[in-house]
Amino acid sequence: MTAIRTVLARRVWDSRGKPTVEAEVVLESGVIGRAITPAGASTGSGEARELRDGGPALRGLDVQQAVRNVVGPIREALRGLDATDQGGVDAAMIRLDGTRDKSRLGGNAIVAVSLACLHAAAADARVPLWQHLAAGRRVGLPVPEIQIYGGGAHASARVDLQDFMVVCPGAGNFAEALEMTAEVYYAAGARLAKKGALQGVADEGGYWPSFRSNEEGLSELVRSIEDAGFRPGQDVAIALDIAATQLQQPGGRYALALENRTLSADQFGIMLERWVDAYPIVSIEDPFAETDTEAMKAFTKRVGHRIQIVGDDYFVTDADRIKTAAAAGACNTVLIKPNQIGTVTEAYAAVKAAQAAGFGAIVSARSGETEDISIVHLAIGWGVPQLKVGSFSRSERMVKWNEGIRIEEALGSAAQPFAAGRLFKRKAA
Ligand code: PGA
Ligand code: ZN
Repeated sequence: MTAIRTVLARRVWDSRGKPTVEAEVVLESGVIGRAITPAGASTGSGEARELRDGGPALRGLDVQQAVRNVVGPIREALRGLDATDQGGVDAAMIRLDGTRDKSRLGGNAIVAVSLACLHAAAADARVPLWQHLAAGRRVGLPVPEIQIYGGGAHASARVDLQDFMVVCPGAGNFAEALEMTAEVYYAAGARLAKKGALQGVADEGGYWPSFRSNEEGLSELVRSIEDAGFRPGQDVAIALDIAATQLQQPGGRYALALENRTLSADQFGIMLERWVDAYPIVSIEDPFAETDTEAMKAFTKRVGHRIQIVGDDYFVTDADRIKTAAAAGACNTVLIKPNQIGTVTEAYAAVKAAQAAGFGAIVSARSGETEDISIVHLAIGWGVPQLKVGSFSRSERMVKWNEGIRIEEALGSAAQPFAAGRLFKRKAA
C-alpha cells in the first residue's frame, strides 16, 4: 500500500514573494506527503539548478515548467514505486534527469518530490517524520544557530558579512536556547534603534543595520549579549557566515565595500583570526570563496582547532566534495541544505560523509523559505547536531523553531542531552 499512486504539483510563493514548487506524493493507501522547495540568494556555483521560466513575467522567476515536469515525466517515472524506498525513488529521478546538476527537470522540481515522498512514507507509518527517520535510534534536539543581524546578499550588502548569529553554550535545552536568543534579539534591536541604525529586517528576519564597519557588528553584538544579561562566550557566543564567495573579486581579492577596501586572501584570513582572538566567535561559515581551497586549508590549519569552520557554498551538500576536503584539511563542519544537492538520499549521503570525516554538521534553511518544516525533522531524525534557519522573527523562520519546541516536548526525558555546552565551549588559543 506504500506504492506511489500519483504525484501532484503546484506553484506556490516563498518568503520573498517569489514563485516556488510544492509537490504532493499520493500513495495507494490514500496517504499524502507534501513539501515545498526553498530558494537561496547567495548560492554556490555547484548547486543543483533551479528551473526558472525566464521571460518578462515575474522577472523570469516563474516555475511553470518545473511544475509541468513533476506532473509529467516525474509522475510517470514514480508511479508504482515504493515510497518507503527513498533511495529507489531518488535514483529514478536522477536517472530521468540525466544531468550532473539536475538542470533538465530542475533541482527545484526534484527536491520537492523527494521530500514529499519522505513525508508520505512517514505518514503511512503513522509517525512524525523525525521518528520515521530515527528508526528507533535515540535522538535529541539540534543546537540552534540564530541570526541577529543580516547583511550581504540578504540586505543589499549594507554590511558585507551575511550573517551575524548567536549560539547558546549556556543553554540546557532547545527551548532555553530560543528563550536566551529572544532576549539577545530584543536587546540588539533596542541598541540599534537607540543609535538610529535600524533599517528594518533582512531576508532571514535579522536586523538590517547601518554600521560603519563590519567589526562594529561584532562589538554591537557583544554589547547586546551583555545588555540581555548574559556572559559573552560562556552563555551566548557568536557565529558568523561570511558568505565570502559573494565578496571575492575577479583576481581573487576580497572586497569589504562598506569599508571601501579590498584584502588579499592572506590579509582576509589575518583579519578573521584577529576577530576570533578579540571576540567570542565559535564558528565561521564560508570564510573564503567556494574556489579558494588554499586559503580554506591554511585558515583551517591556523584556527580549526579553536573554532568551527563551516563549508556552505564550499561543499554544496555534496558527499564527494566533503571527502576531498577532508583529505585536504579544509573546513571541519558541513552545512546541509537538501535543495543544494537536490534529493533526500544525496543530502543524507553528505551527512554520512561528514560523520565519516569526523566533521560536524548543520542542517540549514535557505534565505527564501516557506511554512515547510521538513528540515527540522531531518536534523533531528538524522542526528545532525546543529540547525540554522535564519533569525528570530518572520513566520517562515519561527514555524521551524516552534516545531523544534514541539518535538523536544514529545521526546521528553528520552531525548539525547543537548550538546550546546559541549560543542561551543571556546578552546584556548
Ligand atoms: P542563501 O544563503 O541565500 O543561499 O540561502 C544562506 C547561507 O549562505 O547560509
Ligand atoms: Zn552560508
